Amino acid sequence: MKRQIHLVAFMQAQNCTTIPAAWRHPDARPDFTSAAYYQHLAQILEHGRFDVAFFDDRLAMPDMYTGDHAHTVEHGIRAVKMDAATVMMAMGLGCKHLGLGATYSTTYFQPFHVARLFQTVDLMLGGRAAWNVVTSVNDNEAKNMGLEGVIAHDNRYDMADDFMEAVLGHWDSWDDDAIILDKEKGLFARPGSVRRIDHKGNYFQTRGPFTVPRSPQGRPVIMQAGASGRGQKFAARWGELLFTAPPHLPAATAAYNNLKSAAEANGRDPNSMKIAALGFPVAAATKTEAEDKRALYDTLPNEIDQLSLLSEALNYDFGKKGLDEPFTDAEMAGVSGMQTMRDRVVQAGYPNPTPRDFMEVTQRGRLNHAWVGGPKEIADIMEEWFTTPACDGFVIGPSWLPGSFEDFVTHVVPELQRRGLYRKEYSGSTLRDHLGLPKASIGDWKL
Ligand SMILES: Cc1cc2nc3c(=O)[nH]c(=O)nc-3n(C[C@H](O)[C@H](O)[C@H](O)COP(=O)(O)O)c2cc1C
Repeated sequence: MKRQIHLVAFMQAQNCTTIPAAWRHPDARPDFTSAAYYQHLAQILEHGRFDVAFFDDRLAMPDMYTGDHAHTVEHGIRAVKMDAATVMMAMGLGCKHLGLGATYSTTYFQPFHVARLFQTVDLMLGGRAAWNVVTSVNDNEAKNMGLEGVIAHDNRYDMADDFMEAVLGHWDSWDDDAIILDKEKGLFARPGSVRRIDHKGNYFQTRGPFTVPRSPQGRPVIMQAGASGRGQKFAARWGELLFTAPPHLPAATAAYNNLKSAAEANGRDPNSMKIAALGFPVAAATKTEAEDKRALYDTLPNEIDQLSLLSEALNYDFGKKGLDEPFTDAEMAGVSGMQTMRDRVVQAGYPNPTPRDFMEVTQRGRLNHAWVGGPKEIADIMEEWFTTPACDGFVIGPSWLPGSFEDFVTHVVPELQRRGLYRKEYSGSTLRDHLGLPKASIGDWKL
């Protein structure tokens, strides 16, 4: 069959999308704390035949900016952040085909807990679950989770490697056919089909035996978005659905090729890993209407939104600086959050950027590199990226909800289908089926 685009919906279990101003949109639904809200979105996405919706996570309320949370609460800058796995479960019960994913950190939980949580959801959703593996970036999260500050970037990934071995070990410790349920013979499951893992890594110890059987897709899909050198190495080893956030097509193509070759160098089939590039489409029936929608949207964000989000992402209080005061070399070197974001600003020609330069280059808090257009303009961009190839699909970031997904599904999806680039119907029932990945088999992740 012709190669098909995969679509991933970028979800937040919070009061706004990735863009804090989303809640201020006149038509944004206010009931974001209800299951009905997420189930309504599930219906829209399933109607659009999306592969999966996934929830990002941050284990803290933004309060890095000026060292206080008052601005966060006042402006609704991700002031609400509910548990991603619980909301994923609620959303998944409101649809039949759509895959559901949630972000969980390898830095602040135990592998047994995460393995059990996701394998349980995978069973409850009939093999539609995925786990987005992150290492967590900022000090606020550390302070909520028992540490004084964030662990150094590369060390977090070393821990994460160990974590993954433990989680996948647990997931693979039940054979697919372990359960017999023979009431007459009194045999529930074959004792030899459930193993202890006795994992003793550098960071985590967990013995087993694990207490959750295999699911229809074997085990949950691993999603990952490492972007630094160390992060990409991790992604290429473990990831099955990878996210990239490239600012333009050449960057997307480079990230795609790097990740696929790194996977190959690890002895993996590059086709066993799908890569989805992040985009923020603003779609309508015509380009002019889409531009009007964007213009309305652009009136909503404010400067505090931007500075607050930059502070969180870069783990640095932007309130310490005047808007036009340059970062010194030492301050730049001390940025311990998302280093790829900091480096992007340097590469844009600002070795010593001011907060205003950071805002301008990253567009954090605003509609970042949005694709604004009617069906043709947006499908043209997606087709070009997909066929280059610079990705196997897209993470669709909504500007506000439910309108962004409704517009995308109404205007862009039919055009992609017409071009033969995207499914008209689901052909299987599990998330691995949607992604064109085989059912997971025991030990297939071992190098
Ligand atoms: C689409 C997408 C979603 C992400 N979601 C999260 C998230 O929910 N929580 C988080 O801490 N990091 C998240 N990240 C950040 C990545 O996990 C990663 O830390 C980031 O891309 C920087 O790469 P590095 O860790 O290799 O420096 C996301 C990144 C992308 C592109």
